[in-house]
Amino acid sequence: MKQPSTEQNIYEIERLKKEKNAIILAHYYQTGDIQDIADFVGDSLALSQKASSNSADIILFAGVKFMAETAKILSPEKKVLLPDLNAGCSLADSCKAEDFSKFLKENPGRTVISYVNTTAEIKALSDIICTSSNAVQIVESLPPDEKIIFAPDRNLGNYILNKTGRDMIIWNGTCHVHEEFSLEAIIKLKKENPEAKIIVHPECELPVRLVADFIGSTSALLQYTKKDKSNCYIVATEAGIIHQMKKENPDKTYIPAPPRDSTCGCSECNFMKLITLDKILKCLKYEEPEIIVPGEILINARKPIIRMMEISEKLGL
Ligand code: 13P
Ligand code: SF4
Repeated sequence: MKQPSTEQNIYEIERLKKEKNAIILAHYYQTGDIQDIADFVGDSLALSQKASSNSADIILFAGVKFMAETAKILSPEKKVLLPDLNAGCSLADSCKAEDFSKFLKENPGRTVISYVNTTAEIKALSDIICTSSNAVQIVESLPPDEKIIFAPDRNLGNYILNKTGRDMIIWNGTCHVHEEFSLEAIIKLKKENPEAKIIVHPECELPVRLVADFIGSTSALLQYTKKDKSNCYIVATEAGIIHQMKKENPDKTYIPAPPRDSTCGCSECNFMKLITLDKILKCLKYEEPEIIVPGEILINARKPIIRMMEISEKLGL
């Protein structure tokens, strides 16, 4: 049987969106075709903010499971769909609720700040959630002597610790994409392109962060390339963001930082890339897979997310 063309799929997605009053929220790490059909494209913080204030009946999340869960927690009355439930996250997987509960018992009396890249169960055990856009400011919003636990990303945790000097115990988790960038390959690229600026996500390891001209969340990296005068960037985060960078400034050059495994030309999150236009169409049509967060977990996970939203709003983030 003849497969429908991409144009037909896009037409059908648009039709279903109108019919069902649905919106598509997409993370910057999605493929370009998905970013282009989304109603809103953003980083983790902007997507949470959008998920909590919109008039749609259905949110289709083009991203990974923890993002769709966050949307459901913020808008429990809406139907939240994720086109592939296998779209997980190695960082969220590195922090299991059972182990984390034990860790909290072993380190009592600390304020628990968890990165949004966690399961709903971990959020329910936390005091405040943060994203890479607001992590430093969230920590700085606490009294200077407050003892903190930060989970699960050790690199982001280390970055915040260096910036704030706070008393912080950090969970030992990582993202397989951001850990994989090769310092040697980045330095080689810089030698070949001396005019290039190295821009780095804070989930990257310290040696890569040390050679950075700029460190920031995906949206901060995008803003930087928009405002900065250079014409070439070595981009050390998931390569999907380059789609937006090219849209904003098509004449500039963006080189994905290479991973240590040189058989792969670019760094992509295999979980993010599980989402495809075909799956989005199917998901919108049949309204499944749907994200369900059990009642008590939802109520307990909502409090620290709302706290993050309130602090962010106060700080104008
Ligand atoms: P931000 O969207 O906060 O930049 O985080 C990147 C990330 O790793 C999402 O999975
Ligand atoms: Fe998780 Fe890393 Fe993929 Fe982000 S890039 S979704 S942190 S595995």
